[in-house]
Amino acid sequence: MDEPPRRLAAPESIRRGAVRITRWFELPPEAQAAVDEWLRDGRLVRGEAFKAGRVHRCGEAVLKRFDRGDEHRLRALFPGDAALREARRAHAIRPVRAPEPWAALRSPQGGLLVSEYVAGATLRTAWVESEASRAALPEFLARMHSNGVLHGDPHGENMLWTGDEWLLLDLGGLRRGLHCLVLRGQLVRRHWARLVHDVLYVDPNAESQLRALFGNYLERVAPRRDIARDAEAAWSTVRRGAAEYTARWVAQAARR
Ligand SMILES: Nc1ncnc2c1ncn2[C@@H]1O[C@H](COP(=O)(O)OP(=O)(O)O)[C@@H](O)[C@H]1O
Ligand SMILES: [Mg+2]
Repeated sequence: MDEPPRRLAAPESIRRGAVRITRWFELPPEAQAAVDEWLRDGRLVRGEAFKAGRVHRCGEAVLKRFDRGDEHRLRALFPGDAALREARRAHAIRPVRAPEPWAALRSPQGGLLVSEYVAGATLRTAWVESEASRAALPEFLARMHSNGVLHGDPHGENMLWTGDEWLLLDLGGLRRGLHCLVLRGQLVRRHWARLVHDVLYVDPNAESQLRALFGNYLERVAPRRDIARDAEAAWSTVRRGAAEYTARWVAQAARR
């Protein structure tokens, strides 16, 4: 394996014409070559594609491209900041962990985020293959929610089990601050509903295990939280939410 990249003594932000590069680490040659290619002709082609043209693994790095079209509403006025925003969020959500951001670039064509590659499995695979990954779910979700980290798009592909811990991926839709205070109860239930839907898809008999994990989660989040006051009612809401996700998924699959 390559040497791990060197962390810079302080983050560095430089401008080269219309391009801004923010770096926390020195990039390994393979990642740098892919970055140069993206800067030159706006394409991400190197390495193994997790999502072709959008998320590629190049050696020990993962490169993620953000295009103008990916941005919602007002943010579309500031294309390219998405990469820097995602990198800053990876720092801001600690003690919840995300892959370490190495560099974020902005150019007129959009943004590029370079992060460490972390070997692991996303939720559906980890659930089936690793008992430890299941047991670690209540603590991971409680740590997220108690620290006001609420994922706007909390599906299982945005969670990575490393064998030791869960990491959070894809921080673009993260909700924090006031938004999170107002919607917290709703977002927490939605997160669990999405998780239950994802797990039941691969393991239809998992309901009682999920219910036990949810109970364990409730013991960990502050008891004053509205969700912990009536565990049975909270679980019914989560189950209903999961059934809605499943119904939507079935309808979409039928249309395809
Ligand atoms: N740093 C990483 N290490 C390992 N796998 C990753 C990493 N980043 C992304 N992936 C993989 O690529 C997939 C897509 O990345 P993600 O950031 O979720 O992009 P998108 O916004 O397109 O969903 C993830 O579901 C995961 O399987
Ligand atoms: Mg994703």
